[in-house]
Amino acid sequence: MKTVKVGSVGLGRLGYEHAKNLATQVPGCELAAICDVDANRVKEVAAELGVPNTYTDFEEMCKNPELDAIVIVSPSFLHCQQIEIAMNHGKHVFCEKPLGTDVAQCKAAEKVIEAHPDLIFQLGFMRRFDKSYAEAKRKIDNGDIGKVVLVRSYTQDPRSTIESTLKFAPHSGGQYLDMCVHDIDLIRWFTGSDVKNVWAIGGVFEFDLYKELNDADNAAATIQMENGAMGFMFTNRTHAAGSNVETEIIGTHGTLRIANVGAKNLLNIVDEHGSREEYYPDFMSRWHEAFVAEMVAFTGHVRDNTKPADLTVYDGTAVSEAAYRCKESFETGKMLPIR
Ligand SMILES: NC(=O)c1ccc[n+]([C@@H]2O[C@H](COP(=O)([O-])OP(=O)(O)OC[C@H]3O[C@@H](n4cnc5c(N)ncnc54)[C@H](O)[C@@H]3O)[C@@H](O)[C@H]2O)c1
Repeated sequence: MKTVKVGSVGLGRLGYEHAKNLATQVPGCELAAICDVDANRVKEVAAELGVPNTYTDFEEMCKNPELDAIVIVSPSFLHCQQIEIAMNHGKHVFCEKPLGTDVAQCKAAEKVIEAHPDLIFQLGFMRRFDKSYAEAKRKIDNGDIGKVVLVRSYTQDPRSTIESTLKFAPHSGGQYLDMCVHDIDLIRWFTGSDVKNVWAIGGVFEFDLYKELNDADNAAATIQMENGAMGFMFTNRTHAAGSNVETEIIGTHGTLRIANVGAKNLLNIVDEHGSREEYYPDFMSRWHEAFVAEMVAFTGHVRDNTKPADLTVYDGTAVSEAAYRCKESFETGKMLPIR
């Protein structure tokens, strides 16, 4: 098996997780380089994971001729410009969500990717690699629940990680672009349709920082798809019991539910609080297997020179566009068409 040599940029919350997975959990992959503007972090992670090449300048890393591919886990506003730099240096690219923080950036990224048809691009909507979500998609495609009528999706981070969430908030792009993009991606994927109209509502119930950012700490949106299906999503950062992501898909002949409740394992705990099951403590543990699986898929595509069938740059633009319209709808209080 040819070893795929990867360079990864961004060693923050998720960047470290991806770096560790690439170095230790992805067969046939070598984490050959890492980059972050924080030189101390680069040194620390290189020593821990045994990474031979280290950088604080992204373009310098992309110039390394040994590297086959670049994994982008930097702040969201840098994604599109880093895709361009990496592809101009002949590298295959995996890019974390969201594709970009405005639609113009996403459109520019489309042009860059179209200009490099020989290079592989994959976007980081890892929920599609989760076993339960993938099984739901297979059942829907098989017609098991008839026509999809409604997808309801909640994304709630735990209160225990609120400190890092607040630090991340100013460069996150806002709740719709940062959190709801996952739900929008699922709604498009499960309904097989594009978003037509959005109506977003929400408010600041606890953290004034979100007022300063013109954002909500609790945000919701109702969306109508081109094919008439409906979507509803809700997000916040203060779920009491751990990371909660749950999705319900209602079809004309059945319903599928993917919930967190009791899903960490089969343990039932009986103590002074009563009888309960444990949640995953954070998104990293909830999605660990999916994060590994998306990297196995990406490096496999690089090795075999095959393109991913979905998770394209166009999915990234469509999702970012809908999320951006949700933000505008939240700000204006109006239901808005996507175009
Ligand atoms: N798929 C998911 O569920 C998921 C979860 C979390 C984060 N993300 C995405 O991953 C990305 C990173 O998120 P995070 O939570 O790890 O952020 P973070 O703020 O914890 O980390 C960002 C890192 O990038 C580094 N950085 C900043 N500018 C840089 C530059 N010019 N060159 C190199 N490094 C630079 C910072 O020093 C920091 O270490 C975001 O786009 C976010 O949306 C996705």
